[in-house]
Amino acid sequence: MPNIVLIGFMGTGKSAIGRVIARALNFKFVDSDQMIEEVTGLTVNQIFRKHGEIRFRSEEDLVLAKLAKGDHLVIATGGGAILNHKSMEALKKNGYFVLLTADPEVILERVSRKNTRPLLAKGRNLENVNNLLAEREESYHYYADATIDTSRQDIEDSARQIIRIVKEKWSYEKS
Ligand code: S3P
Repeated sequence: MPNIVLIGFMGTGKSAIGRVIARALNFKFVDSDQMIEEVTGLTVNQIFRKHGEIRFRSEEDLVLAKLAKGDHLVIATGGGAILNHKSMEALKKNGYFVLLTADPEVILERVSRKNTRPLLAKGRNLENVNNLLAEREESYHYYADATIDTSRQDIEDSARQIIRIVKEKWSYEKS
């Protein structure tokens, strides 16, 4: 089975759902933001604050390039990973991309619970969420092999849905 790569906006549930999928499939779960924090010894917030977004993106590229070489992985990417075409293409070679979406209101509610999203630090409001979503929408859909809406279902149901989709796709490809 290929790696399962979760893409999508902040607050769509990539990490929480990814963990459940990995456990169910006996895959390893990796969160690219967490890996960046381990490699740099800085939090995502600190990288943005001290070095800026460009530096964060280059750390993100390095981590994603490394993950692209792995297998039996469930990879939760950062919400802006789709901005790097080269990393996405590398992950695509051995990865099935599932786009997680959620209504802007739901995203806002979820991201407001924690203060770990530097891109929304200036204003966690619906307008900023909608603007960033509009900028990225096309890229998210461009890379997605499947899309699921996590607005109205819990983590376990989303994970089950993804496992079903990936298994169906995989058995179809094998036959
Ligand atoms: C970002 C999303 C974050 C993190 C960073 C930038 C983005 O990840 O990578 O703050 O550009 O949307 P999550 O989607 O896991 O919050």
